[in-house]
Amino acid sequence: MRIDLDGRTALVTGSAQGIGLAIARTLARCGASVVVNGRSEETSQRAAEDVREHVPGAQVLGVAADLATDQGTAAVLEAVPRVDVLVNNLGIFESADPLEIDDATWRRYLEVNVLAGVRLTRAYLPGMIDRGWGRVQFIGSDSAVVIPAEMIHYGVTKTALLGVSRGFAKAAAGTGVTVNSVLAGPTHTGGVETFARSLVGDDLPWDEAQRVFMREHRPQSLLQRLIEPEEIAHMVAYLASPLASATTGAAVRVDGGYIDAIVP
Ligand SMILES: NC(=O)c1ccc[n+]([C@@H]2O[C@H](COP(=O)([O-])OP(=O)(O)OC[C@H]3O[C@@H](n4cnc5c(N)ncnc54)[C@H](OP(=O)(O)O)[C@@H]3O)[C@@H](O)[C@H]2O)c1
Repeated sequence: MRIDLDGRTALVTGSAQGIGLAIARTLARCGASVVVNGRSEETSQRAAEDVREHVPGAQVLGVAADLATDQGTAAVLEAVPRVDVLVNNLGIFESADPLEIDDATWRRYLEVNVLAGVRLTRAYLPGMIDRGWGRVQFIGSDSAVVIPAEMIHYGVTKTALLGVSRGFAKAAAGTGVTVNSVLAGPTHTGGVETFARSLVGDDLPWDEAQRVFMREHRPQSLLQRLIEPEEIAHMVAYLASPLASATTGAAVRVDGGYIDAIVP
């Protein structure tokens, strides 16, 4: 199988680092023109430069915009009027005592993790439908189904995204446009490495440290190691490709077997 996204424009939200940046690199490697996004000009341009370094000759645009706001969304729509592959990757997370999460925090999580993707999907889906081809993806999480007690606000937004994704897939039924969620499991990003280190200490080499972290704090994982961002990106690239034309309205897992379920 060869994944060919030549001639397609892909927008990856919240992609200045972590999983989003890995997705941007992978889509560029498959031939797509890629738009990366962070909140500042500096992080967005640094991400664009990173993709160019990893994928010589790649077409990359960095757009700075806070997608939790209407203005930020408008700036992206103006800079990138046509998108063929929309990857709603943006998502924030942090631990919090469930009884201490106030309304403002709940609203912020819904704005960033749910509404940012809803707004962009609403804007780009009609063009995809008119052209008879398009791909929308939401980067979900194992936390959508295994709500973490220490991050229920995060988990709930990821559960909501499953409904959002399935609903937009129905809106695009029979059009050649697919809409899916990718449920990522615990992934080796900078934030997660710092979190793992805070629990297991700085003494062990990283390979050993992550195994201890997984064994003691994420024992449900069948992979027994963190997932590398590229492993999420590979699934996203497949779903973005013409090869995945019969997969829509689905929640596809790249969770290292973390969710204890037989059906995807
Ligand atoms: N890491 C994991 O283990 C894991 C597991 C399952 C699912 N996920 C999901 O995967 C996705 C990516 O996670 P990650 O860990 O790779 O993220 P991350 O490393 O924390 O990266 C966050 C990115 O989002 C940007 N950003 C933050 N707020 C923004 C906003 N309002 N508008 C635009 N950009 C914004 C940041 O750019 P600036 O630096 O410019 O602010 C940064 O590039 C999320 O949806 C997350 O829920 C992650």
